[in-house]
Amino acid sequence: MTARLIDGISLSAKIRDELAETVAHLKATCGITPCLAVILVGEDHASQVYVRNKVAACEKAGIRSILARYALNVTSAEVLGKIAEWNADPEIHGILVQLPLPKQFDTDTILSAILPEKDVDGFHAENVGVLMQGGHSCFIPCTPYGVMKMLESEGVNIDGAEAVVIGSSNIVGKPMAMLLLAKHATVTLCHIRSRDIAFHTRRADILVVAVGCAKMITGDMIKPGAVVIDVGINRTPDGKLCGDVDFESAKEIAGLITPVPGGVGPMTITMLLVNTLESAERTLK
Ligand SMILES: NC(=O)c1ccc[n+]([C@@H]2O[C@H](COP(=O)([O-])OP(=O)(O)OC[C@H]3O[C@@H](n4cnc5c(N)ncnc54)[C@H](O)[C@@H]3O)[C@@H](O)[C@H]2O)c1
Repeated sequence: MTARLIDGISLSAKIRDELAETVAHLKATCGITPCLAVILVGEDHASQVYVRNKVAACEKAGIRSILARYALNVTSAEVLGKIAEWNADPEIHGILVQLPLPKQFDTDTILSAILPEKDVDGFHAENVGVLMQGGHSCFIPCTPYGVMKMLESEGVNIDGAEAVVIGSSNIVGKPMAMLLLAKHATVTLCHIRSRDIAFHTRRADILVVAVGCAKMITGDMIKPGAVVIDVGINRTPDGKLCGDVDFESAKEIAGLITPVPGGVGPMTITMLLVNTLESAERTLK
């Protein structure tokens, strides 16, 4: 069996095209330009690339972006001051602090300083709580939100399915599990201390892997015909990008599978744009 690919690039392009039209309409009819404000601390290369891509995606969609860059030794007080300034600015609809922050920061303190209604990453405790309650008024963290859009676009039946999520981080695994639960899957959430990962993965109708271990899920760990979503982004020793799933063996067993690159990655930034537009639209209500 050879799995069908879930193409995150083309789904992303479709969503971004529709979004750009809505942004243009919002500007023309209401005079509102959605605006995303981003804080980047330090010189971490991956963070710089992510922020550059986010800013470029905003520009292409007609969303205004503001970037505040700080040196590694900036104080928490300075960053909190900037967040307070942006919280009070009605022309800013989304605020994002690029993670990870340097060690001197308490990440929770910084994230909880962002107004929940501008927290387009969905990391504020209030938004996390609403997600946990199965509510709809929150911002959903972008990566799991993108995964749900992919499942939806492929018509995957989630109701009653065995869904197994490997990786239980606050930004991917936990919200992923909550979103699948809200769609009535039976959810298993595995992490580094879980025993016998393969026992769980082999039961999965829907398998989402967000671990950060190159090619750890091999074809023999997958239920034939399963939907396999690979969130992982790793580099092989020869510098190539790969996921947490061993694509070559997995694609022979799975029914649907996301590639790396070109799968979940593009969807993450797309859903950030969706959340920013949503925030701007909410100011009208
Ligand atoms: N595609 C995207 O847009 C996107 C977005 C966010 C993260 N990622 C990628 O997803 C991966 C995970 O990111 P994260 O931020 O959730 O990572 P994290 O390090 O915060 O969390 C990793 C999780 O995996 C679990 N884990 C680690 N080793 C394990 C093992 N051997 N068996 C089972 N569980 C194990 C840990 O317990 C933890 O819950 C990384 O590769 C990251 O680069 C991709």
